[in-house]
Amino acid sequence: MPAPDLMDKIVSLSKRRGFVYPSSEIYGGIGSCWDYGPLGAELKRNVKNAWWQAMVHRRDDVVGLDSSILQSPRVWEASGHVQNFTDPLVDCKDCKARLRADHVDKLPCGNKAYPGRAASKCRDAGNFTEARQFNLMFKTFMGPVEDSAAQAYLRPETAQGIFINFMNVLNSSRQKPPFGIAQIGKSFRNEITPGNFIFRTREFEQMEMEFFTAPEDWQRWYTYWRDQRFQWYVELGMDPAKLRMRDHASDELAHYASACADVEYEFPFGWSELEGIAARGDFDLAQHEKHSGKDLKFFDEAAKRHYLPYVIEPAAGVDRATLAFMVDAYREEVVDGETRVVMRFHPRLAPTKVAVFPLVKKEGMPERAHAIADGLRKHFTVFYDESGAVGRRYRRQDEVGTPFCVTVDGETATANTVTVRERDSMQQSRVHVDQLAALLLEKMA
Ligand code: GAP
Repeated sequence: MPAPDLMDKIVSLSKRRGFVYPSSEIYGGIGSCWDYGPLGAELKRNVKNAWWQAMVHRRDDVVGLDSSILQSPRVWEASGHVQNFTDPLVDCKDCKARLRADHVDKLPCGNKAYPGRAASKCRDAGNFTEARQFNLMFKTFMGPVEDSAAQAYLRPETAQGIFINFMNVLNSSRQKPPFGIAQIGKSFRNEITPGNFIFRTREFEQMEMEFFTAPEDWQRWYTYWRDQRFQWYVELGMDPAKLRMRDHASDELAHYASACADVEYEFPFGWSELEGIAARGDFDLAQHEKHSGKDLKFFDEAAKRHYLPYVIEPAAGVDRATLAFMVDAYREEVVDGETRVVMRFHPRLAPTKVAVFPLVKKEGMPERAHAIADGLRKHFTVFYDESGAVGRRYRRQDEVGTPFCVTVDGETATANTVTVRERDSMQQSRVHVDQLAALLLEKMA
């Protein structure tokens, strides 16, 4: 399938089936903002849960944090964001479009819009002003007085909330290096050229973890996290042929990083970053120590030394991962001369795990199907559907990636069995109602 077609199909399916809607649509939309619908909210939550499970719950050396979006402006002075968090901005002299200088080739100003982006008339990319630096942080004011003393920023990354709480966590959690602090939350960047649906937006969610190590150990942990993070996507069913690890060249590294690698996915618009794994040394803790005047060193009692830990940071985007899982799951398959659209989500990510249908709306089947659906809801997200031919109901569930459909029919009343139909193979088998939940739990593990 041609790549732009696939992207259009994902955008259209998202709107039609309730994954993602253009934000503020009834007011004509607002550029680059998106709202997650009922299925999208579940999918995104499952992505975050899978990350939290892998990074926090299934380990004993990483703990969670939920820091505030508004922080002291001094945090962003110390981190370097006030000074350095900029992108080069150019204007098209003909159509006045504003673009990121390093995106001009990819996005000529007469950009073909995905929904929500205004298209401009000018198709002649080339007549640009000199680039000037534009700071990406959103500014706001705390309290009723809008003066410079009240100015604050919406955080552009969740990471700094972790660094400024390093001592709090160290003193309250009984962790000591090597250990990590993980956080999921919204971040905001006033991107010059947002685009590609939910890939690059001005409001987005990040899943970040800062792993604190002894200075001499950072390389070992860098290799470890680089590997772990790549595997996370593969274990959740992403096609390894569409994933690659790209090491940054030394001239590409951010000023604080001694090494960095990106996990990239081959989106319909090309290979693009899902996540970065960076070795940040002691840059952030040293900066906060300097700017706050507080001692942020760890005292290693065994070795009788104080040190600022070095940091390895896997930093992923929730929305990008969600988009990649959607693109990767999308299939069109011809079955009996008809095309079925199927989202082959990993069962852990599927927004609805089980759909329950009565074969017909009579003979007590709806009542029995409701009772089965209610029983399964203790374990899974369940969708009940009794409208239309059963084949159509299967297709509707295929399109939103529901791994299993359970159909109640005439035999349910006599033998207490139902039909279980699997999304990918479309195979059907009869299962006793008493064994249904256990069987589905086993298949979804
Ligand atoms: N603390 C390091 C940091 O924030 P980053 O590479 O700027 O690093 C990490 O961001 C991840 O956050 C990216 O790999 C991407 O997945 C996501 N991200 C960054 N900017 C984004 C945007 N404008 N829209 C959606 N996701 C974004």
